[in-house]
Amino acid sequence: MSTITAAITAVGGYVPEYVLTNDILATMVETNDDWITSRTGIKQRRILKQKGKGTSFMAIKAAQDLLSKNQTNPQDIDLVIMATATPDMPVASTGAYVATKIGAVNAFSYDLAAACSSFLFGMSTAAKYIESGRYKKVLLIGADKMSSIVDYSDRTTCIIFGDGAGAVLFEPNHEGLGVQDEILRSDGVGRESLKIDAGGSILPPSNQTIIDKQHFVHQDGKTVFKFAVSKMADVSENIMKRNNLKGDDIQWLVPHQANKRIIDATSNRMELPQDKVMLNIHRYGNTTSATLPLCLFDYENQLKKGDNIVFAAFGGGFTWGSIYLKWAYDPR
Ligand code: UT7
Repeated sequence: MSTITAAITAVGGYVPEYVLTNDILATMVETNDDWITSRTGIKQRRILKQKGKGTSFMAIKAAQDLLSKNQTNPQDIDLVIMATATPDMPVASTGAYVATKIGAVNAFSYDLAAACSSFLFGMSTAAKYIESGRYKKVLLIGADKMSSIVDYSDRTTCIIFGDGAGAVLFEPNHEGLGVQDEILRSDGVGRESLKIDAGGSILPPSNQTIIDKQHFVHQDGKTVFKFAVSKMADVSENIMKRNNLKGDDIQWLVPHQANKRIIDATSNRMELPQDKVMLNIHRYGNTTSATLPLCLFDYENQLKKGDNIVFAAFGGGFTWGSIYLKWAYDPR
């Protein structure tokens, strides 16, 4: 019997309609288009404006896009992994709701949280279920409504984040395509550098935490930046070495879209030209768990069967890593 590898066989995506440009942000906080563009590469981001809609709204849209394009019967899905840092609500699994709403009535589901590395770690998890031979269709969704935790009077965070969702389907492959290798890491030293202080078990929400704006995401941008630049490049270089890959052997880098300068540092270390780097940060900003699948969503038509792709991410915690995958299908 041939070895089972876990291949991505379909992609879906969704971003909300409302476009928050740098110029609009400049009317809300002391900033300008030049600063944001030169420091981050971001020009605009999408924001989910509808009242009463959470992360699940976008996750459902992305999953439905995948299911309809790929003509997959949702009843055939075994597992839905919901990668997110902004679940609809604490305790109740967002994934369970999403699975039910898309008609994946035979699937089990859960949420997976590792900040901006949620989707990358979710790829690893999804692949293991497939490689075990026990499950045949695992839907991995990455979605975040970052606007629900961003303070739009804080110029150091509100310029970075946006809302969005992406989804991929993992299925068994017998040609050796799909996930080849992974290097995943975490280090609790980063806990204070990127976090929401209140709303968790240490500091439950209260009037005071609201007044102190502790329900918003805070980051020590410089520290996060320094770690991200070195760690994302390190793992990406290491996964190449471990698999005897040179820059010429790699068709695509799929990097977490947090800051164009972090992406450039990673691609430079990998000796990859810009045209091999998936980039949509200028359009969506940092959508946290959705950055990697939204890259695939935007570039799917350029991917060919057998392409060597390196995924890389860095996020709060700290969490980071790199996954090497061989693409499994030609443009449809
Ligand atoms: O998704 C994973 C986690 N997140 C990240 O990977 C993000 C990592 N960090 C970053 O991308 C960058 O640190 C930022 C984009 C957040 C900030 O860029 P920076 O080059 O590190 O700027 P800085 O924080 O060192 O600030 C430089 C200056 C400061 O002014 P002074 O002290 O030099 O007078 C800031 O007050 O820029 C000022 N500044 C701004 N100016 C205009 C900070 N934010 C803004 C702004 N507009 N939005």
